[in-house]
Amino acid sequence: MTTEIESILVENRVFSPPADLMSQANVSGMRGYKALCDEADRDPEAFWARLGRENLVWDTPFNQVIDASNAPFYRFFPDGELNISANCLDRHMGTPVENHTALIFEADDGQVSRVTYKELLVRVSRLANAIKALGYAKGDRAVIYMPMSIEAVVAMQACARLGVIHSVVFGGFSSKSIHERVVDVGATLVITADAQIRGGRTIALKNAVDEALAMGGCEAVRKVITYRRAGSDIGWHADRDLWWHDVIQGQSDQCPPVTVEADHPLFILYTSGSTGKPKGVQHSSAGYLLWSLMTMKWTFDAKPDDVFWCTADVGWVTGHSYVTYGPLAAGVTQVVFEGVPTYPDAARFWKMIQAHKVSVFYTAPTAIRSLIKLSEADPAVHPRSFDLSSLRIIGSVGEPINPEAWVWYYNNVGAGRCPVIDTWWQTETGAHMITPLPGVTPLKPGSCTLPLPGIDAAVVDETGQEVERGKGGFLVIRKPWPAMIRTVWGDPERFKKTYFPPEMKGWYLAGDGAQRDKDGYFWIMGRIDDVLNVSGHRLGTMEVESALVAHEMVAEAAVVGRPDETTGEAIVAFVVLNGPLPQGDQAADMAQQLRDWVAREIGPIAKPREIRFGENLPKTRSGKIMRRLLRVVAKGEPITQDVSTLENPGILEQLAQAC
Ligand code: WT7
Repeated sequence: MTTEIESILVENRVFSPPADLMSQANVSGMRGYKALCDEADRDPEAFWARLGRENLVWDTPFNQVIDASNAPFYRFFPDGELNISANCLDRHMGTPVENHTALIFEADDGQVSRVTYKELLVRVSRLANAIKALGYAKGDRAVIYMPMSIEAVVAMQACARLGVIHSVVFGGFSSKSIHERVVDVGATLVITADAQIRGGRTIALKNAVDEALAMGGCEAVRKVITYRRAGSDIGWHADRDLWWHDVIQGQSDQCPPVTVEADHPLFILYTSGSTGKPKGVQHSSAGYLLWSLMTMKWTFDAKPDDVFWCTADVGWVTGHSYVTYGPLAAGVTQVVFEGVPTYPDAARFWKMIQAHKVSVFYTAPTAIRSLIKLSEADPAVHPRSFDLSSLRIIGSVGEPINPEAWVWYYNNVGAGRCPVIDTWWQTETGAHMITPLPGVTPLKPGSCTLPLPGIDAAVVDETGQEVERGKGGFLVIRKPWPAMIRTVWGDPERFKKTYFPPEMKGWYLAGDGAQRDKDGYFWIMGRIDDVLNVSGHRLGTMEVESALVAHEMVAEAAVVGRPDETTGEAIVAFVVLNGPLPQGDQAADMAQQLRDWVAREIGPIAKPREIRFGENLPKTRSGKIMRRLLRVVAKGEPITQDVSTLENPGILEQLAQAC
């Protein structure tokens, strides 16, 4: 393992939690936080048992809390049984929450529709009955490829109601990516929509599913259910395809939730790693939901009258934990948004916060950074031009938030009243891990501050030794927690190798570099592996390289990240073609072709920002590509490193010129 931690900005500003928020917070003051931490440290099993009993509704109460007999394949509440959909919906029936609005859906064109908790339960039950009538049952796998919509939440919840394991594929991924996931997860059902509408554009979804299923190896998929969103023309396979509105016709509005064991997989979500193939992160039912719910209560201080808005798509883990599961279990009202932050203009977020009286807002630094530029250029779309007084908490997720963006968000969106809650976590962790609490933690811009109670985070060196404060190292979690990844679907060896390497003494290795300051605050310094973070989206360099070399023109490719002001990182690809080195317009044309190719292979988010052609790549005498040097070239900086171990040092000059 190597780390390339660079020195970080020294940030001395500290922002205290607002007094009114602190006085009413679910966790109040440093004392309240410390009490929970002490409880967890003293007796972790008793702590998790208490939370599990108090916060989940069990069909069969658990007796055992943690089963570590097959570590690192931990199980939580192993002899308990429950249903996740019942824990999100049925639990609210007969309480005042049943008539509360569960979802406020705002379409791309601004149309708004609402469903109460009671109505949502009916919708989920009818779809679940339809899926059941088609012969699906607990343990089957369904791929969901849908736009942000009430129906996406319904589809996920309907699966959970039956114990059908869902695997959501982000609507921006290509048919090739759908294919890969359908095959790997062994899906027998696909739920999709004719199209999605984003930023005024209609993007086909069902047709991408058709293409994916035609690629071969997907014969197990018996049915494709399609929700009509846009009225687009779509292909039709009479033996396989069904309309959503047809299958729910005549279905009962009651569907008994299927009892599953606590560790029954709720979902599998693919995420990028160091190799070319994304891995299926397998999550549990009870432990996962418990932590999604606890973090709603602690991190977002959820109260019944909150209007919560997480802008993430359900295609990412953030949309699982903080759209489909956590907010519903917590019984809040939440906004679900189909569109993009810049359509019809860059005031969309502020207009929606104002219109729906959003009280807790959760978005990504990349969105904030792009809106800063647009807002500062045009007062009409500046957050200060809107009434955002309903806000009490504003959150950030997905990548480090630079202090400048933090302070702008705090001053202009939060009007200096709302704590910025910078949540560090990952697809694998299921829910928040290191984060400030709004009524507790003094904030330092750029730091995700302190671990949640029960989360034993540390920064260690390559031998697993904790490093001194102020020194960089690897972020590890030293105790199991309920929402942790259970395994990599179909590849337990990869799970062990990636997350529990022997030198880490059985601790979870997060894959991030980090540093703690004198106050114990954590500062995340980016990935230690070959994973890029582009606009908060995680992509493997190998994944993009594999896509590039799959093109007939390409002999070899190396992909690196370059720091970018708006997107965090930008993808730069160094490519060796099979033919002669292209020049001028021809090079530009080929670069465009390859960018489009990558968009088709993976999805538009993986398109390299820049492609540079060379006759070769910088390699050691043993043939290893020196990505470290390519990162320097990509930044446009001079090479100061020793290049004597290179087989072909001259190539660096050529690649630097190829800009
Ligand atoms: C990686 C995980 C967390 C859900 C969405 C992304 C980076 C995430 C932060 C943060 C600094 C962050 C890390 C992490 N990351 N949140 N608050 N500060 N870095 O989930 O796609 O699994 O990506 O995102 O590098 O390892 P993901």
